[in-house]
Order: sequence, then structure tokens, then C-alpha cells
Amino acid sequence: MQTLLQLNTSLYAGDGQSSRLAGRFVERWRAAHPGATVLLRDLAREPVPHLDAERFDAFLAKDGARDEKQKSVVAYSNRLIDELRRADVIVIGLPMYNFGVPSMLKAYFDHVARAGVTFRYTENGPVGLLTGKKAYVFAARGGRYAGTPSDTQTGYVRQFLAFLGIEDVEFVYAEGLAIGEASKQTALARARDAIDGMLDPQRLAA
Ligand SMILES: Cc1cc2nc3c(=O)[nH]c(=O)nc-3n(C[C@H](O)[C@H](O)[C@H](O)COP(=O)(O)O)c2cc1C
Repeated sequence: MQTLLQLNTSLYAGDGQSSRLAGRFVERWRAAHPGATVLLRDLAREPVPHLDAERFDAFLAKDGARDEKQKSVVAYSNRLIDELRRADVIVIGLPMYNFGVPSMLKAYFDHVARAGVTFRYTENGPVGLLTGKKAYVFAARGGRYAGTPSDTQTGYVRQFLAFLGIEDVEFVYAEGLAIGEASKQTALARARDAIDGMLDPQRLAA
């Protein structure tokens, strides 16, 4: 049975446009995969702390040499990583805030990038350890950036996921949400159509 992890990163939790698009995908995916497990991690409801020196030193400390506080920091990071490891499919709702990814998502990334756990260094550079997964990203933006150098998110998120070994990543964009009501409704309708197309039984069977 497959497992899907939905990661909402909007300030507005499940009410964000990116979360709603992610939720639409998950609803349809679940219907197409009866018996599958769906995990939800909402970073607005349960924020991940910023990574600081104390937390990073806890990651670096050797097993058996960690104090109680360090053990709990590592246990927390391990829980986030275990969800990712269990997931065959990862769904990310991705708002654009101040020209970048939400700081909550950055904090999450900082807690799941762990040398020797989710990636390892080799003579040929780093190798991701979370292979064999597929990710879908639902990006909501007030302006329009996709396909231009101002899109700071797509390359970054692709690079980060690939660093962990997640190379198969598909993006759906809802852009121009702040330009006007017509622009917003058109963009959301297009994104919803794209999602419904992704979960077309014929495409899933292919
Ligand atoms: C704090 C904040 C900063 C934002 N910064 C940008 C931005 O830099 N560029 C942009 O296109 N839209 C920006 N927006 C608009 C959001 O991208 C848009 O509202 C989108 O729907 C956010 O996704 P969400 O609804 O899932 O939270 C910003 C919105 C907020 C609340």
C-alpha cells in the first residue's frame, strides 16, 4: 500500500490557496488509491523551529554522546524524516512570500537535511538517500514568475529535493492571484484542471 505525505506550508494552514490545491490533489489521489495512507503535516499548525547552533550541534553530536536536550532535538528531526521516508508520494503546498519560499518550509528543510541520514557525502559529491519517491508541488503566487529568472522557488525546491534523492518532481502553478479577481479565478481554475488531469485514471495507469 502506498503512503502519501502532504506538507502544507501556507500561513493560513489548510485555507491557503496552495494548501487547497494540494488538498484537491490528495483527495483525488486518495480516491484513486483506496487503502493508501495519507499523512498531513501542516507547518502553520505545528511550526518547525528555526535551526540554530544548539540544534545543529545536536545533529552533529555522536549517538551515545548526546545529552537529553540534544536527544529530543534529534528525535524530533527523526520524526519528520521518518514521515518523508515512509512516503512514496510527497505533496507540497508552496506559497510565494516575499520572493521566496515560506520561512516555515525553510525551517522544515533545515531539519530534514541530515548528513548520514537523508544524504551522504561521497568522493563524487553528496548523494541523496530518499530515493524512489515522486513529489508534486502546488505553487500559489500573487504575481507571475513561472519560467522567468524571478522564479526563485522552482529551482530551489527542485535542487533541495534532488539533494535528498527525490528527483521526480512535478509543479503546478496558480499565478497572478493578487492581480485581480478575474486573473485569480482563471489561474485557480487552470490549476484545478491540471490537477484533475494528473489524476486521470488513464494517465495513472500509464
Ligand atoms: C506575507 C506575504 C508575502 C507575499 N509575497 C509575495 C511575493 O513576493 N510575490 C508574490 O507573487 N506574491 C506574494 N504574496 C501573495 C501570495 O503568494 C499569495 O497570496 C498566495 O496565495 C499565497 O499562498 P497561500 O494562499 O497558500 O498562503 C505574498 C503574500 C503574503 C501573505
